Amino acid sequence: RPLVVDSVTTLRAQIRDWRRDGLSIAMVPTMGALHDGHISLVEIALEKADRCVVSIFINPTQFAPSEDLDKYPRQLARDLERLRQAGAQLAFTPDVKQMYPAGFTTKISVGGPAAGLESDFRPTFFDGVATVVAKLFLQASPDCAIFGEKDYQQLCVVRQLCRDLDLPVEIVGAPTVRDAHGLAMSSRNAYLGDAELEVARQLNAILRRAAAALAAGANEDSAIAEASRALVKAGFDKVDYVAAREGLTLAPWRLGRDGRLLAAAWLGKTRLIDNVEVPSA
Ligand code: PAJ
Repeated sequence: RPLVVDSVTTLRAQIRDWRRDGLSIAMVPTMGALHDGHISLVEIALEKADRCVVSIFINPTQFAPSEDLDKYPRQLARDLERLRQAGAQLAFTPDVKQMYPAGFTTKISVGGPAAGLESDFRPTFFDGVATVVAKLFLQASPDCAIFGEKDYQQLCVVRQLCRDLDLPVEIVGAPTVRDAHGLAMSSRNAYLGDAELEVARQLNAILRRAAAALAAGANEDSAIAEASRALVKAGFDKVDYVAAREGLTLAPWRLGRDGRLLAAAWLGKTRLIDNVEVPSA
């Protein structure tokens, strides 16, 4: 079973012991409700390092007041069992008081890849993510950390954070794990009813079709408008964005460059995101 640690002091003592034994450490930050996507990150972590630390912390500072903090799925016992099966050595499960004691006031705000896309709809989200990820890295001081491409903009933001603040953590991006129908695994998929699930499963195919059109030289604005229309026709209630960006910087995409097509759309009260590669040739 993984060691379950809920204080920073105990975490640091364990990390110090492992360091003394010459062991390398990989970290997988999560908010729990672990699924096969999260577990794939643990598997990559264990290939990259001797020890894998998984944090499970539903970070309140990345939720807006209108968002789903209260109903976000919580299932620690099940999560720990999955981590045991996957072979993670430590689960770090701080409570909110541990991470944000009374009087906490510091906030990290990332520019560059954090601008636009998610930030247009969740303006405080990446400040919350950057602040908690910086804390987790300073608490665990891992050699590397694994982040999923599922949250592609978040992966770019975390890379920028480490570069800008000289955080000595190698950021490893991991491919999106999907169900048999192409739907990206997400803790929020648990909110979907059967009919919504059918609609959700079309998101990836619609993006892949648009990405192929873009790669083949289709007009960017029409390919994106067409994808948005297809999402609404499939049954999505509202499309926040469909956008083509340069793969590393998230700057505007140009034909011939490696790109990423990113989207966010609503099904009832559930907001889904996904992204696909736009190949350069
Ligand atoms: P959470 O949504 O729990 O995701 C934790 C990690 O799992 C992220 O790196 C995310 O990209 C990855 N992940 C989620 N679904 C995936 C899938 N289908 N395939 C591959 N990887 C997947 O992202 C967060 O938590 C938080 O913002 C966090 C970084 C922990 C900061 O609070």
